[in-house]
Amino acid sequence: MCGIVGYIGKEQASKIILDGLAKLEYRGYDSAGMAIYDGEKINITKSVGRLKVLDELTHGGETMPGTVGIGHTRWATHGVPNDVNSHPHFNTAETITVVHNGIIENYIPLKNKLIKKGYKFISETDTEVIAQLLDYYYKGNPMEAITKVLHRVEGSYAFGIMFAEFPDRIFAVRKGSPLIVGKSETGAFIASDVPAILKYTRNVYFVDEQEVACLKEDEIRFYTVDEEEIEKEPVHIDWDANAAEKGGYEHFMLKEMYEQPKTVRDTLSPRIKGHEINIEELNMTDEELRGIKKIHIVACGSAYHTGVTGKYVIEGLARVPVEVDVASEFRYRNPVLEEGAMVIVISQSGETADTLAALRESRERGFKVLGIVNVVGSSIAREADNVMYTWAGPEISVATTKAYSAQLIALYLLAIKMAEVKGKVTGEEVGNMIEDLRKLPDQIELLLNNKERIQRFANRYIGAKDIFFIGRGIDFSISLEGSLKLKEISYVHSEAYAAGELKHGTISLIEEGTLVAAVSTQKELYQKTISNMVEVKSRGAFLLAVTNEGNYDIEKAADYIIYIPETNKFFTNSLAIIPLQLFAYYVAVGKGCDVDKPRNLAKSVTVE
Ligand code: AGP
Repeated sequence: MCGIVGYIGKEQASKIILDGLAKLEYRGYDSAGMAIYDGEKINITKSVGRLKVLDELTHGGETMPGTVGIGHTRWATHGVPNDVNSHPHFNTAETITVVHNGIIENYIPLKNKLIKKGYKFISETDTEVIAQLLDYYYKGNPMEAITKVLHRVEGSYAFGIMFAEFPDRIFAVRKGSPLIVGKSETGAFIASDVPAILKYTRNVYFVDEQEVACLKEDEIRFYTVDEEEIEKEPVHIDWDANAAEKGGYEHFMLKEMYEQPKTVRDTLSPRIKGHEINIEELNMTDEELRGIKKIHIVACGSAYHTGVTGKYVIEGLARVPVEVDVASEFRYRNPVLEEGAMVIVISQSGETADTLAALRESRERGFKVLGIVNVVGSSIAREADNVMYTWAGPEISVATTKAYSAQLIALYLLAIKMAEVKGKVTGEEVGNMIEDLRKLPDQIELLLNNKERIQRFANRYIGAKDIFFIGRGIDFSISLEGSLKLKEISYVHSEAYAAGELKHGTISLIEEGTLVAAVSTQKELYQKTISNMVEVKSRGAFLLAVTNEGNYDIEKAADYIIYIPETNKFFTNSLAIIPLQLFAYYVAVGKGCDVDKPRNLAKSVTVE
């Protein structure tokens, strides 16, 4: 989604903005631009294409002098990606400029009204309406104009705004789209996400819904939409600044895959005390946990896939029924939430619009929501009743890997805890599971070290048109993620199927040489999956199998086998997903795809 960076201070703004926007490239975008006040007027340079085009146009920012500015990377929603539709946008007099992340839902009626009043529009965007509406309300007081606009617009937004008549300040506003502001010795910043300004400051303020921040070189003030001042404390971000750098790896995705052992350890260790699981953040007594009659897990994309695994693990261990929903469906299907139900939303970014809406819907209906979230201070983290953080650190690659692995750990811990308080497992069983969880980081590392073998195999499938992933039970949920990883970064069409369902239609797509990746880690389903493998093999498929060490008779059915180390049957996803991530990565690299920033995708999907 769009990225916003702004700066006001002593330094050259354009350089800081370009640098910050580069840190937000992972969010996905198709054009970039910036507006800088040069001492007399505001100048805008913007262009469709990668940030390097803007960098070249401005000679690395040199041609845009000034110490106040706002910049933007645009992910097109209203209007095709082109120079005119790129942000920032001006009012006609070029005295007010705006960058925007989100969607203005009522921009058409607003635009029509402004046209009737004589305003002319040059772009197809909803954002230009904001610049013109600000112009309409501006009578010499920027704050008054901004709050009037906020009372009129509907939708989700984060704005960065500058007025040529007030070059000593920039404004930041948000509702439903992420925005932070920060302060350093030399100035003040606005940004869509922490990595953009981490190099300059670690003291950030999370702008709340419908708050207006007014930034000057040496102070930041916050106001409500009714212009009442609000006191706010900064949050100290202790992320390692290098965490948002590639650190010698070719891609963020590879680096993040390699960070998985640490991520798993970091998510696990604070919640394990000796032989006990202690999830303080749940804020629930054992009695309350015992009272949970049903769990609803709601999420999108890969986070939804961890939810599917969570269903198998929680139901398997704690015997509590779990329903898993894609957030965009949950929010509109009027789900039946009964007394005793608990809602869990899962999100890396903590900003996914549909997941956030599902959270709000559940809370409005009186249900407590637990957020499993990676980004500290994100909207979901702030709005959920309780938050279980996944300690994965900043994840930059659009394709999630380490946050996915951390989400699995959070769900395992929750499942074991619930099973324990419900008396479904003995103390000894809990101890054994903890032992198995503790072994996961080293086992993941072992699988990562096998990357050359997977790379060689992946190279054979660079030209593949279709690849299928099959599995049963937990293995099906692993297949869902293996398939998504492949298609999102390598653009190879792929489908994941419950292995037993294949013969009800999809098997007709299997041709001579079609690659079918079969995941088979569940002992009780092993023979069943082998039968499904044989079914596709006899129709010409080439079989890749991911299975447990010791399952050597799989060689009868599979053409290529990846063995994963021994672990508890409920935790196999954490291991089996590693070769599938590597496979997707190397197919994408082999095809020369932009691995970290796949086409059409955004890291955090802040629009519906
Ligand atoms: C996965 O690789 C994705 N790019 C995507 O499916 C992602 O998991 C989804 O958009 C949810 O994001 P969130 O975890 O930030 O809510």
